[in-house]
Amino acid sequence: MQRLTNKRILLGITGGIAAYKSAELTRAYKAAGADVRVVMTPAAREFITPLTLQALSGNPVHTALLDPEAEAGMGHIELAKWADLIVVAPASADFIARLESGMANDLLSTLCLASDAPLCLAPAMNQAMWRSTATQGNVFQLLQNKVTFWGPDSGEQACGDVGPGRMLEPNAIAELSATMFDKQLLSGKIVHITAGPTREPIDPVRYISNHSSGKMGYALAQAAQEAGANVKLISGPVNLECPDRVSRIKVESAEQMLAAVLDDIANCDIFIGCAAVADYRPAVIENNKMKKGSSDTLSLALVKNPDIIATVGQLPDKPFTLGFAAETQNVVEYARTKLASKNLDMIAANDVSNSDIGFNSDENALTLISQNSELKLAQTSKTKLAQQLIEHIAEQLTSA
Ligand code: C5P
Repeated sequence: MQRLTNKRILLGITGGIAAYKSAELTRAYKAAGADVRVVMTPAAREFITPLTLQALSGNPVHTALLDPEAEAGMGHIELAKWADLIVVAPASADFIARLESGMANDLLSTLCLASDAPLCLAPAMNQAMWRSTATQGNVFQLLQNKVTFWGPDSGEQACGDVGPGRMLEPNAIAELSATMFDKQLLSGKIVHITAGPTREPIDPVRYISNHSSGKMGYALAQAAQEAGANVKLISGPVNLECPDRVSRIKVESAEQMLAAVLDDIANCDIFIGCAAVADYRPAVIENNKMKKGSSDTLSLALVKNPDIIATVGQLPDKPFTLGFAAETQNVVEYARTKLASKNLDMIAANDVSNSDIGFNSDENALTLISQNSELKLAQTSKTKLAQQLIEHIAEQLTSA
């Protein structure tokens, strides 16, 4: 997998001869799968044109704080929230000083002040400027404020001096940027999740389905994405927006869901079966709308659907597999039986006889069961529960 897939990097460029290397850095980010937005200070534009960075990043370049047109596209606060990581390369002595004093007198310094994203600086300047008491004082203070410094390197400088102040090479900065995400719980993992109901057609206008809202599966997709995973959501028909940066495949029937699941299961690290798959489907799908007959009863022959998660559980190189068990009685006992019969690594059991939780509700409570552990997750929102579930999966994966 590309190490920066789906990651949003805001690349700040300040004025210095090393700004030409930022073009190469933008390419390296794109090659690693990142979405890059470039912000340039006025001084940076003396060294490299916004057009170059726009062509390489594939996004408009942001240059001015008070530009109504740019603000109408993506405003500065939106941009600050958008970023997963802010990298300023090159970072000039002037920019470092302004950052340290909390100034917000251009777009880049304002963004750094307004964003919660980690901030990393790759300084580049003359060796005497880098060594000066003022710059070193600013760097010391920024380090206390959890700003990360990458470099500078030592060596020959554009001005002819020799010493510390050269910007790190673009590939080294890209590599360090990727390591910033390694701390995430599911960093680099590929997660596939099924969600929602399936629809089993009877004729062109009718189907058999169930009340699954898809909320739990969608919350899990979002939580896994936020934990750094690359997430594919294989979803039956639901009324939910696809979570940001999750790729969704829409399916209807169980057979379609199975085909989508098996399509690239070989690449999957974690499989979560959250869909309420119909156990049976009509044996025959009528080509035309069925007519009302004279009889008061109608019999429909049904055949068993494939068990999607059990199919995944039987694969020789199966991913870590988590299933769900919605039960109305003997919840834990039945869930344990399913854990074994479907060859799962973990099962999340919920008691659907309690109408406050489960189908269609915004809340849920679960008992997480694996071969030698059992853990109760108390009733809370599906969003919070999904985050807890992802944490437990990550724990199991690291302890395996
Ligand atoms: O057997 P039961 O339907 O209770 O099992 C529930 C678990 O199995 C859930 O994880 C569900 O997504 C999965 N399942 C499946 N394919 C089926 C039936 C259930 O993947 N045909």
